[in-house]
Amino acid sequence: GRGGHAAVARTAPANAMIGLTEGAFRWSAPAASSLAGEYDLLLYSLLGLCALVGGAVALLIVVFSLRYRRGSPAPRLPRIGRRTAHFMEVGWMLVPLALFLGLFAWGGKLYLRMYSPPADALVIQGVAKQWMWKFQHPGGQREINRLHVPAGHPVRLRLASQDVIHSFYVPAFRVKRDVLPWHYSELWFEAEEPGRYHLLCAEYCGTEHSAMRGQVVVLAPQDYARWLERQGIEDSPAQRGEALFRAHGCSGCHGAQAQVRAPDLDGLYGRPVPLASGGTVRADETYLRDAILQPQRHVVAGYAPVMPAYAGQIDEAEIFDLIAYLRSLEAPGDNPRGEIAR
Ligand code: CUA
Repeated sequence: GRGGHAAVARTAPANAMIGLTEGAFRWSAPAASSLAGEYDLLLYSLLGLCALVGGAVALLIVVFSLRYRRGSPAPRLPRIGRRTAHFMEVGWMLVPLALFLGLFAWGGKLYLRMYSPPADALVIQGVAKQWMWKFQHPGGQREINRLHVPAGHPVRLRLASQDVIHSFYVPAFRVKRDVLPWHYSELWFEAEEPGRYHLLCAEYCGTEHSAMRGQVVVLAPQDYARWLERQGIEDSPAQRGEALFRAHGCSGCHGAQAQVRAPDLDGLYGRPVPLASGGTVRADETYLRDAILQPQRHVVAGYAPVMPAYAGQIDEAEIFDLIAYLRSLEAPGDNPRGEIAR
């Protein structure tokens, strides 16, 4: 009855596969990203070429072993000249070689595109943990096991794991990337049509690995903008990061009136940092994350290695916010709005 149906709906998992663009069963997921069509074409070309070469060789083995079996009356004298034979032999080495090298070059080109996110991509942060996917949009909107993205616009995901190795997998977009606990993983895609697509974990990560799934909800750009508005965000990631910066006592050492001599963080993001061990690193997301979780790894030149490690005390979503706050800190003397000084 009606009541029973409602009860089922209420107890169904939050990520129940309702209203997916993909059907119940198909041989292959729909090709729903800007690279998916070419990716499929490359795969089927490779499969087709291998089937052709492999099939031809297998067929000839069968035909020749029957035709020239022991005791068969088939003629065994050479029927073509030496020159023709040489020509054929060189030919069936060079032609397949050229074809497979062509596929290699095509694959290489596609690979470079898959690993080069467009500069105007929307950057969304993601955290994988046992057993869920958490996402944060640039404005601070958060969601779990569901990822809303605009259609026709490149989206770049920066992913971290809170515990073990997971793997972010959206078959319809032909993207899969391992998500590691010690490193930011990145991937990008451009969804073509509004719809809902499977989001899966493709790396065995514990008991409920098979339940670690969700949906990518692709919306028309204006619907995505409306969805962002409806989330009603109070604080931006940078504001949340500032609160965390105080709460964890970072300002006690890195603040302007601090007693302890700690590196100044204003304008740090994107700059080269000289290290005590010699050499420099660029203060990007990976560096800042390391500097918070395991500060002894890259000690800044001229400072004592006294900063406590925050591994286990700050979760990955908080690190995103802290980095957003650090990025918002202007160097002393910088124009706060980046306007051209008059
Ligand atoms: Cu996470 Cu499997």
